[in-house]
Amino acid sequence: MTTVTSTNISSVFLPNQLGNSRCCFFKPSSIPIVKRKFAAKIHASSTTFIEAKTTESILVDKEGSVNKIILACPICFEPVTWLGDPCLSLDSAAGSSLQCETCKKTYSGVQSHFDLTATSGAKDYGESMAPVTEFFRIPFISFLYERGYRQNFIRGGFPGPEKEFELMKDYLKPVLGGNIIDASCGGGMFSRIFAKSGLFSHVVALDYSENMLQQCYEFVKQEENFPKENYTLVRADISRLPFASSSVDAVHAGAAIHCWPSPSTAVAEISRVMRPGGVFVGTTYILDGPYNFIPFLRPLRQCMMQVSGCCAFLSEGELEDLCRACGLVGFTCIRNSNFVMFAATKPN
Ligand SMILES: C[S@@+](CC[C@H](N)C(=O)[O-])C[C@H]1O[C@@H](n2cnc3c(N)ncnc32)[C@H](O)[C@@H]1O
Repeated sequence: MTTVTSTNISSVFLPNQLGNSRCCFFKPSSIPIVKRKFAAKIHASSTTFIEAKTTESILVDKEGSVNKIILACPICFEPVTWLGDPCLSLDSAAGSSLQCETCKKTYSGVQSHFDLTATSGAKDYGESMAPVTEFFRIPFISFLYERGYRQNFIRGGFPGPEKEFELMKDYLKPVLGGNIIDASCGGGMFSRIFAKSGLFSHVVALDYSENMLQQCYEFVKQEENFPKENYTLVRADISRLPFASSSVDAVHAGAAIHCWPSPSTAVAEISRVMRPGGVFVGTTYILDGPYNFIPFLRPLRQCMMQVSGCCAFLSEGELEDLCRACGLVGFTCIRNSNFVMFAATKPN
């Protein structure tokens, strides 16, 4: 385990290795088919990415299929077939649908996103999630999130989105040029940074809160020249990710693990969907050091968990153990006060 502890986190900020230039990975007009499977088309290595940047080449295979993320049915995890606009982009969700050939279930897109929860399409059945998950579904909370709520995290040691991105780029170096899931994206601030950086072939912004996704959609709409063609919004439960196994290059989960009802189920899912060599990078608040000496901390935390339905804050050792238990290796982290950014890799 490598840990960099810093009271002034700017001292460990890393230079942007590839710069901020953007690149186009495909031309929608070059894709002639309307119905295609999202199978086995993913994965651009960093070498491919650099080539794509310099030659402006388009990552389209012989059949005209695009180098895309593999969206899968949340019930059987089989890849889904896309019915609709031939260009998978932010604007193509409305009016399109995803079909699971195995379950014979259709997932219709709404204006802002695809609903790939298992209960998508249920008419009478409704299900309440853990209180913390339901909290972020409240329209007012979703509205506030990127309008002041998230900025408060700086008090706990979070360096802020731009600096967090600079920090995580070092961890993501082995998977640059590949696809990335911004898991529990909230209002989608990191997913937008990822998309605009041009460092990834496709970005999926994923959250359980439809209102957070709606916020994200509106933020994107306000941006000029946003690369919508490489960007998809998906509603899904972190405990049941709608991606085929071993199909994802990178997963980012900003300020999220402490909000998940079962971090072990979530990290196990992340581990399942990542390909060998895939990188998981996350941030959260950490609770250790002097806090370890607080009497009854463990029972207190268990009590909090029962009330909130989330796991509250972990210690660095617990985070590392969690990643290891879920099959990830090479745990490493950077800390600043109660903030931690950690990364772990799916073994090759
Ligand atoms: C504190 S916000 C983090 C947002 C953003 N990633 C950031 O860095 O600011 C936590 C997010 O976790 C999401 N979340 C909570 N439970 C979830 C679940 N079961 N599945 C997916 N997302 C969930 C919430 O909707 C919320 O958007």
